[in-house]
Amino acid sequence: MKRYFFLKWFTILILPLLAVIISIAGCSSVNRKTETEITEDSSMADSYITVGFSQLGAESDWRSANTDSMLETFTEEKGYNLLYKNGQQKQANQITAIRMFIQQGVDYIVLAPATEDGWDLVLEEAKNADIPVILVDRRVNTSDKTLYSCWVGSDFELESKKITSWIKAYTENQNIAPYDLHIVNIQGSLGSTAQLGRTRGLANAARENGWDLMAEVSGDFTETKGQEVMSALLKRFDNINLVYCENDNEAIGAITAIENSGKKVGSDIQNGEIMVVSFDGVNEKALEYAREGKISCIAECNPLHGPRVETLIKMLGNGETPQKFNYVDEKIYSSLEEVQSITVDGATYEIEKP
Ligand code: AHR
Repeated sequence: MKRYFFLKWFTILILPLLAVIISIAGCSSVNRKTETEITEDSSMADSYITVGFSQLGAESDWRSANTDSMLETFTEEKGYNLLYKNGQQKQANQITAIRMFIQQGVDYIVLAPATEDGWDLVLEEAKNADIPVILVDRRVNTSDKTLYSCWVGSDFELESKKITSWIKAYTENQNIAPYDLHIVNIQGSLGSTAQLGRTRGLANAARENGWDLMAEVSGDFTETKGQEVMSALLKRFDNINLVYCENDNEAIGAITAIENSGKKVGSDIQNGEIMVVSFDGVNEKALEYAREGKISCIAECNPLHGPRVETLIKMLGNGETPQKFNYVDEKIYSSLEEVQSITVDGATYEIEKP
């Protein structure tokens, strides 16, 4: 009877209780496994530095080289998780990309901005999320400079001063009177730092030297637009003898337009050739044109910013404060022998062979 009583209660009470205990133990072991997996995943993620890179577009060879430099620098093998977004030349796309980076909680945002204005709001959002922003290539025009950590890129106005000093030295050497220099400027994308600096540099030099700057029209930094704009300018003016292109892709397009119109490109202005000068020195065709004398002078704009941005990220990661503005040293190229060096703002630059 006693035995029967024990068995009855064992079946009714103890067995289900044991089953509950075993199942709880089992569940908790599953849960622990899941937690371990998550911990492992997040510790993996923690060991990577996540960089959100908003590139403005792919308008030129310079831009492609710049993107490649970033992609080659921020690799998984080096411990980076790079989120790359191409803005397709639209600031709105870049703002959307930055908001996505903020949502994903990246460690750093790297921004190559299309234009200077209109960034305050989204940069404030990044600052509120405690994500350092590094500007690369072009700059932004913000009311508050603490909205970004630092910038690395070219001094675009200095590049222009180098080209215009070369034009001055070359035309003086050739006894060409300043008022006989009839210039058109095929500008870059309007509102970008590169366009603003290069346009300002030429306008100042034209005013100071008494050159005839006849027109400024944007070619959007592309070969197609450069050709289109140059064709229209050749119809508008019959005395153009110097084309200042704000990048090499525009220069290639402008040269096609000049040659299609039956005119000749080159440095022999007195005998009717049209001189072309430009910026970048990245595109192989442009360098070949410079060697052939179709482009008379190129001010270098260096696109290899990946390792420079990495240095800034490492400094920020170590708690250091990098310089706010980090300029890149750049050269000037011409295959003409008449000018060997130029001096700009007290610094002398040798003219290098392209
Ligand atoms: O901002 C740099 C400029 O942008 C380069 O000179 C040009 O080629 C590019 O598209």
